[in-house]
Amino acid sequence: MAERKCIGVILGSIREGRINDRVAFWVIRQLEHHGFATRTIDPADPGLLPVQTGDPAAIQRLRDRMADLDGFVIVTPEYNHAEPGPLKTLIDSVTAEWWARPVGLIGYGGISGGLRALEALRIILAELHTVALRDTVSFTSPWRKFDELGHITDANDAAAAEAAMAVFAHRLDWWADALAHARHAKPYDPRDDG
Ligand SMILES: Cc1cc2nc3c(=O)[nH]c(=O)nc-3n(C[C@H](O)[C@H](O)[C@H](O)COP(=O)(O)O)c2cc1C
Repeated sequence: MAERKCIGVILGSIREGRINDRVAFWVIRQLEHHGFATRTIDPADPGLLPVQTGDPAAIQRLRDRMADLDGFVIVTPEYNHAEPGPLKTLIDSVTAEWWARPVGLIGYGGISGGLRALEALRIILAELHTVALRDTVSFTSPWRKFDELGHITDANDAAAAEAAMAVFAHRLDWWADALAHARHAKPYDPRDDG
């Protein structure tokens, strides 16, 4: 049996009582349902939290956690039309771990469903030599939709989210394969550009 691709699931919020856990639980189950293995990368993890102040040991732990993954999925809220600051700091703390990896974007928030934060992330992710997937999954008012364990309580909402996730997972799988082949054929290093 082919080894499952492993995807780093990066949370965006470090707020106590955050909704992020519920949405991330659902995303992880969905990714596993679609055949991926997952590794959670949580900026609120006590071992990773000091990344926020540039702690070298924490940054090394983040590097180790992000190493050798086939791609990433960022699950983030929107705050004032953008991604949360702690997520941006985490993203900025590593470089080569991002290169030539696919990144899927899943957002939530008020009526925008986090979409403006996801679009803001595209600019940042391009700078880091990633491929951000065209297709996103987003949730308006997730506090009304998800229970504590990350189950979507309304059957119609669940079906719509699962349909969006099926497209998302298909794209992620395609780009993870394509970029793995490309990295294998020729290691990606933007510093070669001269
Ligand atoms: C200061 C602040 C600004 C916010 N700005 C937005 C926004 O611009 N767009 C939006 O859709 N939701 C916005 N929200 C709603 C958050 O996305 C929502 O509270 C979400 O649950 C936060 O994620 P978390 O609970 O995982 O921390 C904002 C919330 C706060 C507290």
